[in-house]
Amino acid sequence: MAKADALVKMRNVYKQFGGIRAVEDMSIDIHEGEVLGLLGHNGAGKSTLIKILSGAYPIDSGEIVIGGEQADIQNPRDAKAYGIETIYQTLALADNLPAPANIFFGREIRTRFGALDEAAMEHAAIKVMKRLNPNFKNFHEAVSNLSGGQRQSVAIARTLQFNARIIIMDEPTAALGPHETQMVADLIQNLKKEGMALVMISHDLHDVFDLADRITVMKNGRHVWTGRVQDTDKDEVLQMIILGKLPDGSYAPGIVSEDAA
Ligand SMILES: Nc1ncnc2c1ncn2[C@@H]1O[C@H](COP(=O)(O)OP(=O)(O)OP(=O)(O)O)[C@@H](O)[C@H]1O
Ligand SMILES: [Mg+2]
Repeated sequence: MAKADALVKMRNVYKQFGGIRAVEDMSIDIHEGEVLGLLGHNGAGKSTLIKILSGAYPIDSGEIVIGGEQADIQNPRDAKAYGIETIYQTLALADNLPAPANIFFGREIRTRFGALDEAAMEHAAIKVMKRLNPNFKNFHEAVSNLSGGQRQSVAIARTLQFNARIIIMDEPTAALGPHETQMVADLIQNLKKEGMALVMISHDLHDVFDLADRITVMKNGRHVWTGRVQDTDKDEVLQMIILGKLPDGSYAPGIVSEDAA
């Protein structure tokens, strides 16, 4: 079960690019041991909101509270120091290298003589992969030869190795087949069991209903609705995404009724 108080609270967040109001007055909570699904049309502001948390964009105004304390996130390094890691759709893996080298890429373990400590990295890689994907055996294979789900587990293992506690996933199941999607679902279950706080951006309502515990819907940079998946259904959520219309027929603050047009 998720703890009562959220690990991450983003409050009244605003972000503008020139004249474009990408995010306006957005607030979300991210709990440990839980997946928050972030939904909305193209341009709704999902990536911008999450990039503020990962330090890719500085916040214009609003606040971020992590573990009860005000967080100052100016850049990706600050975010990593708070245990925030992002897994982008591209995964950012070095294709020609095997899993251990990818997990430790840029943060290699060296012997006291300065040489790469391949044995130590492989040992650590096996340990971290076991937590995520016990069936994974291809530690000597270049990651380009791995399946989509296996590549996803390597990317996640990389974040776990460096003490992530908040993991942001942008479209983790896009372009994966059913078997691979199931593998990612299993990975996410394992991360939840470990008490990670997860945020998942997705366009796939089906996956969100399968994987998320709660969902937040955005439209035109603003908050439409947040609630538990069991308290809504796909038709209601689709209406919120497209029209910004709540199940009771009303509209969230700042959302302009398209019926009125
Ligand atoms: N770096 C940027 N410079 C200028 N405008 C931007 C920038 N990033 C995002 N925007 C604009 O901000 C708005 C929100 O974009 P954002 O990428 O956050 O939406 P999204 O919900 O992630 O959409 P998608 O589902 O297409 O990924 C859009 O109008 C977009 O064009
Ligand atoms: Mg996006």
